[in-house]
Amino acid sequence: MKNIINCSTVTKTFTTGDVATTVLKGLTFTIKEGEFVAIIGPSGSGKSTLMHILGALDSPTTGKYELDGHDVSKLSDNELAEVRGRKIGFVFQSFNLLPRVSVERNVQLPLLYTNTPIAERQKRTHAALRNAGMDASHDHHRSNQLSGGQMQRVAIARALVNDPSLILADEPTGNLDQKTGQIVLETFQKLNNEGRTIVLITHDQYVAAHANRIIRILDGNIVEDRANDSHHPSMKGIDA
Ligand SMILES: Nc1ncnc2c1ncn2[C@@H]1O[C@H](COP(=O)(O)OP(=O)(O)OP(=O)(O)O)[C@@H](O)[C@H]1O
Ligand SMILES: [Mg+2]
Repeated sequence: MKNIINCSTVTKTFTTGDVATTVLKGLTFTIKEGEFVAIIGPSGSGKSTLMHILGALDSPTTGKYELDGHDVSKLSDNELAEVRGRKIGFVFQSFNLLPRVSVERNVQLPLLYTNTPIAERQKRTHAALRNAGMDASHDHHRSNQLSGGQMQRVAIARALVNDPSLILADEPTGNLDQKTGQIVLETFQKLNNEGRTIVLITHDQYVAAHANRIIRILDGNIVEDRANDSHHPSMKGIDA
């Protein structure tokens, strides 16, 4: 399988006033197509900063990041937006749905920026919603009429609708209770079994335990990168 993510000595430094803080200190790793990787680390360790780089929402200060073979630093803003839209589905802790807009419209949003014909848009929207575990009875509800777990499934459907090569999720279960979070994690496992590449960012070891590989970051460095063989759901709650 080819590398979808290739980071070599990626650093990120933020400068506020005259204080420069290096948040990522030279990360080197690759992720292959079809992997389900959890990136775990405590609050402030640089996870979201890394996710922004992986999602081409921000660029490294030094080092190189290649997304699906493209050196992201060499792309123009328009090309970046296009690569993001086509290759990546984002899922966030706070769902980021438009509240007064229907479930269907929320999922269709990424397709409005492409030239997809209406009939095809409808077809893909419904397929993505069913794939994310939402049944048709909610399609015309406004997103603020849904439970948190349903909102996150709609957000997952929106992430899927462009058929991206990569799903990037930052604390997707952070606003959900344990049982609902478990259902969302099982949805990611199902999508991965169907061949999707998933990168799941979390501070929670029980959430990370659903992935097949765990990369641990601490203070901007990778301190562990290992296969996770104990990702069976029955292991939930057992410290792997
Ligand atoms: N735009 C920015 N400007 C300055 N500092 C930043 C910026 N973004 C992040 N930081 C700093 O970088 C560090 C890492 O932040 P980051 O959001 O990546 O952590 P995290 O691992 O995602 O934490 P959490 O688990 O709390 O979400 C923090 O100290 C933060 O203050
Ligand atoms: Mg974060």
